Amino acid sequence: MTAILGIETSCDETAAAVVRDGREVLAHVVASQHDLHAKYRGVVPEIASRAHLERIGPVIEEALHIAGLGFDQIDAVAVGNRPGLIGSLIVGVSAAKAIAWAAGKPLIGVDHVQAHLHAASLYFPASGGGGSGLHTPPEPPPPPRFPALGLVVSGGHTALYRVDSPSQIHRLGATIDDAVGEAYDKAAVILQLPYPGGPYLDRLAALGDPTAHRFPRSLLEPDSLDFSFSGLKTALLYAVRGHPQGRGDHARFEHSAAELTDRQRADLAASFQAAAVDTLILKIERALDLLSAGAAPARSLIIGGGVSANSLLRARAAELGLRRRIAVHLPAMTFCLDNAAMIAGLAHEYFLLQRFDDLHLPAVATTAC
Ligand code: KG4
Ligand code: ZN
Repeated sequence: MTAILGIETSCDETAAAVVRDGREVLAHVVASQHDLHAKYRGVVPEIASRAHLERIGPVIEEALHIAGLGFDQIDAVAVGNRPGLIGSLIVGVSAAKAIAWAAGKPLIGVDHVQAHLHAASLYFPASGGGGSGLHTPPEPPPPPRFPALGLVVSGGHTALYRVDSPSQIHRLGATIDDAVGEAYDKAAVILQLPYPGGPYLDRLAALGDPTAHRFPRSLLEPDSLDFSFSGLKTALLYAVRGHPQGRGDHARFEHSAAELTDRQRADLAASFQAAAVDTLILKIERALDLLSAGAAPARSLIIGGGVSANSLLRARAAELGLRRRIAVHLPAMTFCLDNAAMIAGLAHEYFLLQRFDDLHLPAVATTAC
């Protein structure tokens, strides 16, 4: 039995978790900073770092308390050390180093984007497990079969991967402009929805007609596995506000979003969501076809990242799985968004390989994959 303490502070969630044997989540604590950033309609890096500093100690203590373990009873300390906001990452990395050094435990740095692909494997023990925002899946999900096709859809990243094992991940394609979560958040600002916009837009879309507007599905070159979402965002902006006169900060629009009726707003949200999810599904299908044509067809599909909480993406991915006879692994809702359980879970793979870091472990703004 291996218990790993995970720490995650890459953006605006301060999180700690304890995970047994890579999958069983004994404690899962997430302190969100959404209230601090809401009035700026985006994450303010300086505010995020300071909030992490205030919260990291109590959040780690709470996770250990819930798991019923002391520092001496954990086997390793794992931390998301890349990618993210550098000031935010440094807080988690420093805390992890201090605990590893003081308790004499191995330190394991984990790539946050790769960890999102581990989230679908996590579950709570039958007796409960605990922390914030629990949605306990009924039983442990079956582990994915490899090689798998991986899709990470978050606020900072949108990319497809060939996953040969949890620790061997190769990027097949990525967004060339906005991440899909970022496009959702910007679309929500255009529609004057609350912050953070993705979940609000998802809920509003359920009330609208997805065929009301035909927004672009940018597929790029015929065999490209890259993504582009900036055209979709601009198409929504023009549909809401009309074509601008002038450019940049001086642009003047014909309309304001305040003029929209509830019906129009819902139709715009539904049409945006249909285009965004269509694009993701079409790219998944393209990647599956390309992998099937090569030496290593995918034996499963793994999706992770904040946008994996999206209701339409989950439904369409499940439908794709049935149609193409491929197992689809989606995280339980509570593990879609940033959390430390996915960090501790993936770190278990490195623990088994004895892949440890020393106290020189850096915080790095960019991803390793
Ligand atoms: O993975 P995550 O928590 O943070 C990053 O690593 O970026 O993802 C956050 C992103 C945000 O852009 C948020 O709006 C989006 O995930 N998101 C959603 C939904 N829930 C969260 N986007 C669409 N539909 C949702 N239900
Ligand atoms: Zn994330």
